[in-house]
Amino acid sequence: MAVPKEVRVPIEMLGSSEGVVAKEVVTQDGVVILPLGVDISLFEASLDVLVDKMRQSGIWYVSLTPPQQLSEDDIETIIGKVYSDEDSLISKQKARDVVKRVDSVFNNIRAEGSIRPEMVSAMTNLGSSLTEDLLRNPSVTFSLGKVQEVDEYTFVHSFNVAVLTGYLANKLHPGDEKFLQKMVIGGLMHDLGKAKIPLEILNKPAPLTKDEFDQMKRHPNIGVEIAIKAGVSDKDVIAVIGGHHEKWSGGGYPNGRRGNEIPDAARIAAIADVFDALTAKRVYKKPMSSRNAMTIILNDAGAHFDTRVARAMLLSLGLYPPGSIVSLSDGRVGIVISGGGKDLVRPVIMLTDLKKKDGGAPNFIDLKNETSLCIHGYLGHADKRELGL
Ligand SMILES: [Fe+2]
Repeated sequence: MAVPKEVRVPIEMLGSSEGVVAKEVVTQDGVVILPLGVDISLFEASLDVLVDKMRQSGIWYVSLTPPQQLSEDDIETIIGKVYSDEDSLISKQKARDVVKRVDSVFNNIRAEGSIRPEMVSAMTNLGSSLTEDLLRNPSVTFSLGKVQEVDEYTFVHSFNVAVLTGYLANKLHPGDEKFLQKMVIGGLMHDLGKAKIPLEILNKPAPLTKDEFDQMKRHPNIGVEIAIKAGVSDKDVIAVIGGHHEKWSGGGYPNGRRGNEIPDAARIAAIADVFDALTAKRVYKKPMSSRNAMTIILNDAGAHFDTRVARAMLLSLGLYPPGSIVSLSDGRVGIVISGGGKDLVRPVIMLTDLKKKDGGAPNFIDLKNETSLCIHGYLGHADKRELGL
């Protein structure tokens, strides 16, 4: 059988080239830009940045092995087998409904200054429905429920925080369905107060001035006021709205509380809030990988965050969250498609160097069953959306 030959592709041509990286591309200071064995198409969204980096490092060509006939459609089919919509944590339709509802509540606050009690009950119902989804399949990694759309950031963020807050609440207080439900509702409402912050401040693609930040810091108290006026009285829901920017070692806002003075509900929401903000794609920033966001949260555990909640988050994500590109002990390279579970270092991996069409069998390895193999190295992160996940 003929072995596909390597071709040297000028970096300017990478965008229109196909193939698998045949020689690792490393910058002068040792940073791996293109890991060996990874399909170049996976880097499409970040290619401009990568090409710039290569130029700065004096790299002008990349060696590619021509693709072994597996089309994007095939990849989608394979991924579809693993992540069908019904198996996802939250269906896409449900996610859209929730995002629309949060959107209309925000618009109402902007237009009338408050929300009507019936809007609260609609949000509560959606929160209960999301809670049922979370309870139905608590083992599915929460990141599959994440919605990413740049132009609806605040509403999408509210949805993501609700799902992640509920997920963490379920991990930390298993069986306490009431608490889980209140946390999901709290997550949906946590940034209500932002509806009264000027849009120029909310959407400013640059650091805020002191005055602007002072205005921004009012949103938890404003949110509590709006919620109470609309008839919300539950202490956990109010704690999420009012306390999600407090920090474990003090110095957060609005009240600068510390440690156990901060309600448990607010400590859980604080991690969900920061994790989603870091991994979100905004007009002015690329999303951070889940792994890097997790590293930041772990580094800040005990200072900004409650260590107990940070640990629950780590156990949920695994050390290699979906999208991580890893090398295995036998030299093969793959993309992690499901992290988490009890064993943090044994996720399910889709091999990137075995794209063969024979029989269409997906090339997945579940490291929990392949005990002779282990992950040797972390090579980087492929954006989940580039993978169609
Ligand atoms: Fe907030």
